[in-house]
Amino acid sequence: MKKYKLIGPITQLVSMGDLSIKGPLKDEDIHIIKDAGILIEGEQIKAIDTFKNLKDNIALSDTTIIELNEGYVATPGFIDAHTHICFSGSRARDYAMRNAGKSYLEIAENGGGIWDTVLKTRNANLEELTHNTIKRANHLLENGITTVEVKSGYGLSIDEELKMLRAIKNANETTKADLISTCLAAHMLPKDFDGNHLDYLTKITNSLFPILKEENLSNRIDIFVEKGAFLPSDAELYLKNAKNMGFDITIHADQFSTGGSEVAVTVEAISADHLEASTEEEIKILAQSNVISVALPGASIGLGCSFTPARKILDAEGALAIASDWNPGSAPMGDLLTQACILGTFEKLSNTEVLAGITYRAAAALNLSDRGRLIPNMLADFNLFQTNDVNEIFYHQGKLTPTQVWKNGEIVYKK
Ligand code: NIG
Ligand code: FE
Repeated sequence: MKKYKLIGPITQLVSMGDLSIKGPLKDEDIHIIKDAGILIEGEQIKAIDTFKNLKDNIALSDTTIIELNEGYVATPGFIDAHTHICFSGSRARDYAMRNAGKSYLEIAENGGGIWDTVLKTRNANLEELTHNTIKRANHLLENGITTVEVKSGYGLSIDEELKMLRAIKNANETTKADLISTCLAAHMLPKDFDGNHLDYLTKITNSLFPILKEENLSNRIDIFVEKGAFLPSDAELYLKNAKNMGFDITIHADQFSTGGSEVAVTVEAISADHLEASTEEEIKILAQSNVISVALPGASIGLGCSFTPARKILDAEGALAIASDWNPGSAPMGDLLTQACILGTFEKLSNTEVLAGITYRAAAALNLSDRGRLIPNMLADFNLFQTNDVNEIFYHQGKLTPTQVWKNGEIVYKK
C-alpha cells in the first residue's frame, strides 16, 4: 500500500482553517482554495493546496492519486455535538398530542414524555440498543456527519445507564462514524427511585462514575437543569464532584427556564446546550466565558418553540455550535444540516456561521482539537458535495447531501 493519497482537483475547498472560535463570521472571510487537493497520510491530512502544487511536489511512487472528474465542494466532516440516538421505541403519540394542543402534563399523564422512552429502552437488550445506535449513526454518516456525540439518559438506574453506555461503546466499534459518549444519568429523577433528587445524584456519583472510568465508558457528564428535572444548586454540586473526578462537563441549560447556563459558567463546563430561554443576561455571561453555546434547532422545530438566540450569542462574541439533539421526544427529525440551515434563516446567520457551527465550533463543544478544519495534522474527515459553489449547500437547506464522505482518510460512503 502506498503511503499517501492525493484527492483532487476539488472546485472549492472550504478549510475553515483560520476562523475564530468566538464571535460573528462574515461570508467574505471564508477562505476557499480553488482547484484544491487533499494529501492524506494514514488517518490525517498531510497537506492542503492546489491540486497542481501538490501533484508537482509529491513522490508519485508513494502516492495513490484519486482524480475527480466533476465539480465538487469539500467541507470538513460535520460534527453533531448533541444527540440521544441510543433509545428504543417511538413517541409519535406525544408528537400528535402536542400538536393537538395537549399540555406537557396531559402528555405525561397519558404515559408519554421521557419516562415512556426510559421504559421502552429498559425493555430493550444490549444487542437491540447497539443495533439502533449503529443504524442511526450510519444514517448521520451518510449525511456527512463523521463525529456524533451520543448521550445515555434513558436508563436512569446504575445498571440501565451502564447498558446504554456499553451499547454506545459497542456501536462505536461498528459504525465508521466516531461516537463520543456522554453520561446523562441526571436526565430526570427516575419515578421508581426511593429518595430525593440529591440522593439520586449522590448515588450516581458514588456508584456509577467510578465504573465509567474503569470501563472507559464516558469522559463526559451532562445534567438536565430545568423545572421538573434538576435544580441549579443540586446540579452545581453534582458537576463539581464530576469535575474533580476528571470528567468534562456539559449541561442541558435554559431550555424552558433560565438557571442552567449560570451553572455552566460557574463549573467551567465545555458547553451549555439548548439556551432557547436565555435572556441578555445569560447571553452575556456565556459570551464572556469559555463555555461553547450549543443551539439545538431540531428541538425548536420538534416542539414548535422559539429558536436559541443564535444571532445575539454571536454578536455578543459568544461561540456558537449547532447540533441536532436527535431524540424520540423533542427532536425526532435527526437531520443536522437541514436544521442548521433553518436556524440560519430564522436567526440570520451567515452561511459561514452555520458551517462553523457544525464543524470546528462543534469540535470545540466536544473538547476535540483534532477535527473540524481541513488543515495539516487534523483527521482526514471531509465531505465532497457535487456542486461548484459552497453556497448551494445551504441554499438547498439540507437536501443537497454529500456524494462522498471520508473518515480517517478512507472513503466511508459514496452515492
Ligand atoms: O434535549 N431536554 C431534555 N432532554 C431531551 C429530550 C428528551 C426526550 O424528550 O426524550 C432534549 O430535548
Ligand atoms: Fe438533549
